[in-house]
Amino acid sequence: MSVEGKIGIIGSGLIGRSWSMLFASVGYKVFIYDIEPKQISGALEDISKQLKSLESSGMLRGTLNAHQQCALIQGTSDLEECVKGARHIQECVPENLELKKKVWAEADKLIVDSDCVLASSTSTFLPSLISADLQHKAQFVVAHPVNPPYYVPLVELVPAPWTEKQVMLRTRDIMEQIGQQPVSLTREIEGFALNRIQYAILNETWRLVQDKVLDVRDIDRVMSEGLGMRYAFLGPLETAHLNAEGMLNYSERYSKTMYAVSQTMGETPLMAGEQAKVVHDQLCDMTPVDKLPERRAWRDKCLTALAKLKKEINDSDK
Ligand code: NAI
Repeated sequence: MSVEGKIGIIGSGLIGRSWSMLFASVGYKVFIYDIEPKQISGALEDISKQLKSLESSGMLRGTLNAHQQCALIQGTSDLEECVKGARHIQECVPENLELKKKVWAEADKLIVDSDCVLASSTSTFLPSLISADLQHKAQFVVAHPVNPPYYVPLVELVPAPWTEKQVMLRTRDIMEQIGQQPVSLTREIEGFALNRIQYAILNETWRLVQDKVLDVRDIDRVMSEGLGMRYAFLGPLETAHLNAEGMLNYSERYSKTMYAVSQTMGETPLMAGEQAKVVHDQLCDMTPVDKLPERRAWRDKCLTALAKLKKEINDSDK
């Protein structure tokens, strides 16, 4: 089934390209805008290559073929052409608050539809900081993806204090329609949810390496070969629910121990200085900096295989 409607993407880098592919996968007509004309032509070429490669590996989303999806995506160096009449605008310019405010101030003047969603891909800025001065601020929301969005489907939806409820609902609907897995925060909070959890994990791994309890290779193994195996399928709360006879039983059995251990965790470390060098050197023994592109390609291959497996499991559970 294919849908109709227009989507505006502002910024044609890594994330803008992924969003374009995701929206086109269900039939949306996508206009991708960039301030750099070279970036636009590069993006269109790259998108075409990626779609063909996804098609040949059987991972292309949606029912349209790669050629049809590609034809739905067009580049533009005119912001007005990108945003006018769009039902959803997804901004993907670099992570710089002043730049984001400037780009949105320009787009704001061109938007006429009162039901168009204005979404930012920002990883770090609170929606209130970006949207405070916009005329259409009630239509503004953060829709934060996870890289690479084609294989990692989570999208965090974060409202500013003035975001209309309907805008959160519309954004959630369109994210589900394109096959992503949105979560809706009830209010803005620093780090949103994903980074707050990620930082809690990073802080404890940092402390364990700093205190020489484990080296870098082994602490990473605790996640990749231990916790991460479960977390690819279940969240920590359901994991706990299953690890006892339900959450109440888990709480009876483990809450005091967990609390006591947590009390020993110590100060929040600043991940910098001498210790950063120690961690960096150990990481470079595992993956030297010049081999990072290969390791990233390996990571993406693993994520593709995992996405395939999860889809098979979900389909067979239906
Ligand atoms: P990028 O640097 O790959 O792409 C940014 C694009 O914006 C470039 O093509 C650039 O030419 C264009 N641009 C710069 N100024 C512009 C302007 N005034 N108007 C229009 N286009 C302009 O950045 P990337 O990685 O795609 O990130 C975009 C956003 O997504 C950032 O806010 C980032 O924090 C967020 N994000 C990034 C993730 C990642 O892993 N790369 C993951 C989740 C969110």
